[in-house]
Amino acid sequence: MPNEKDSPIFIATWDFGELAVRTAWAHWQEHGDFAAACIEATAAVELDPSIPTVGIGGLPNRDGIVELDAAIMRGSDLRCGSIAAIRTTCPAIRVAKAVMDNTKSVMLAGQGADDFAMQQGFERIDREAMLTDKTRSEYECWRAKVEAGQADREKMVGHDTVCMLGWHQGETVACVATSGLGFKRAGRVGDSPIIGAGLYADDQSGCAASTGIGEELYRHAVSVRISDAMHAGASAAEATDAVLRRMIERDQANITRGLSILAIDRHGGVGAATTRTANHKFELHVCRAGVFERIVPTPITS
Ligand code: GLY
Repeated sequence: MPNEKDSPIFIATWDFGELAVRTAWAHWQEHGDFAAACIEATAAVELDPSIPTVGIGGLPNRDGIVELDAAIMRGSDLRCGSIAAIRTTCPAIRVAKAVMDNTKSVMLAGQGADDFAMQQGFERIDREAMLTDKTRSEYECWRAKVEAGQADREKMVGHDTVCMLGWHQGETVACVATSGLGFKRAGRVGDSPIIGAGLYADDQSGCAASTGIGEELYRHAVSVRISDAMHAGASAAEATDAVLRRMIERDQANITRGLSILAIDRHGGVGAATTRTANHKFELHVCRAGVFERIVPTPITS
């Protein structure tokens, strides 16, 4: 096993972050490529049908169709690739990687993203197969309530994005993937695939990502703000704390919204900040040199 100095650091969000960091570490041990490890870790979460906020088995939009968002950014050269509202390919993170590697574009969306995935040889997944029995039944229940006037059509649910950050000897990578808010308007895209909002990586500062109500995180371009704070000398912990506090100062309502941000600074320091308090607390999974740790950050409450 490599020693701590030579080993990468992997961090990932939510309870499924444990699957992500364990997959990343296993991949790194076998192949020694920390960026590929981050991609495959993100893909592993996307391919787990029991996770209702990411990939296959993610909650559908208000038309009953699953739409996936994903992105990757590499801090060494600022190359990035992003996919929004893709409907027939999973894992979307591999398509985002293909955008980064094989096009001059940064982002592809909607039908163009689906067509690109087919051109690149990805397997086509039928729309129905993107749903599970559980998500199909939740959707039908939601729609029945909306039609009966018992539920607000505009109220979206769930937003637990897999954010996967990797650091190795000063090099950084950020990956994110989500099915977005459940029962969202068709074509709605949150923060996740937006470079600078849902993720950012620059080896001169570090890497950062966000999870929560996408519209708020997007509005505040949180990941590039964290990156800028780290570039100015803040640690990952200081930068994430300062950016979330600034969001709250700007709009007090943010204290009650589910917002969580995370980063690794260029020295390998890890930080996270959250407003999530009671039920379903935000958690972060960290892997350093094959040692796994679960962190539940103390929420900012005022
Ligand atoms: N943060 C994920 C989303 O809002 O879609």
